[in-house]
Amino acid sequence: MEENKLISPELENSGEERLENTLRPKTLDEYIGQNKVKENMKIYIEAAKKRGEPLDHCLFYGPPGLGKTTLSNIISNEMNSNIKITSGPAIEKPGDLAALLTNLAEFDVLFIDEIHRLSKSVEEILYPALEDFTLDIIIGKGPSARSIRLDLPKFTLIGATTKAGSLTTPLRDRFGIVHRLELYSTEDLTTIIKRSSGILGVKIEENSAIEIARRSRGTPRIANRLLKRVRDYASVLGDGNINLKITKHALNKLEIDELGLDEIDRKMLETMIVQYSGRPVGIETLATTLGEEIDTIEDVYEPYLMQIGFISRTPRGRVPLPPAYAHLGYKYGENINIEE
Ligand code: ADE
Repeated sequence: MEENKLISPELENSGEERLENTLRPKTLDEYIGQNKVKENMKIYIEAAKKRGEPLDHCLFYGPPGLGKTTLSNIISNEMNSNIKITSGPAIEKPGDLAALLTNLAEFDVLFIDEIHRLSKSVEEILYPALEDFTLDIIIGKGPSARSIRLDLPKFTLIGATTKAGSLTTPLRDRFGIVHRLELYSTEDLTTIIKRSSGILGVKIEENSAIEIARRSRGTPRIANRLLKRVRDYASVLGDGNINLKITKHALNKLEIDELGLDEIDRKMLETMIVQYSGRPVGIETLATTLGEEIDTIEDVYEPYLMQIGFISRTPRGRVPLPPAYAHLGYKYGENINIEE
């Protein structure tokens, strides 16, 4: 992924994480977009507080960069509790999870990113913890081993995943609140970019914010990243203010086209249109041809290409749709494969 940092919604380094933290909204009212999730969460949080209970366990799923971590921080903030952040792969052994759970305070939020990657043995410890706030641990080995039950503080688990389908049914069933985060509209991204510019202390024209928003693939993390790069161009080549000319110049230099597609997107579409003549292509084949991981294609590239109607998934594989042909300058329906 080294070469596509601008598109990859992953957090690449701590510098970026710091920037994300300054730009991150702290309350639900500051949080832009995802209105359905926001409205529901407001009610659930208020109801839980009224009853003096912890919030029910939540599962947020959807493509990376849409604010699952942000939302979880906001929830713990709104619940006046603390949050502990970890991830599925980081919890290697049942003991790691036991240590995390026993260190929580009442009403705390435990955030587990990539929760679909928890191991089976860790997951099994989690079930009674979620259901009855108890922890069963085995002490000793062999015939003298015995199991003891510990009471845990009443906490809220927030799980996040890009792959809800990879969660086991027993785990999924233990979340009382399940929400899918959607790609953001250009309008919402424009508002986010203007808000971020304000925080960064840079002046931006409305049309420039819209231009960056349009090329951000529905993803706030990408929008904020592009804004930072455009700000660099504005400060070196201009007077520091962001106008449309400098915005277009910067984004073109970054090889991000009018729709936010990068080299890999275009290569993927080209492969589907030219090499496979628009016939269904399997994800494995695409991954091999592009030299990318299947997960990256599924999580990073496909959601946006599907959202803008460029590809569709069929039982026999992925197919390119007419707008993709038009965008790349091909005629739909013509046999483009020169080898056939
Ligand atoms: N920054 C990143 N995501 C955001 C959001 N949803 N609302 C406001 N600012 C953001």
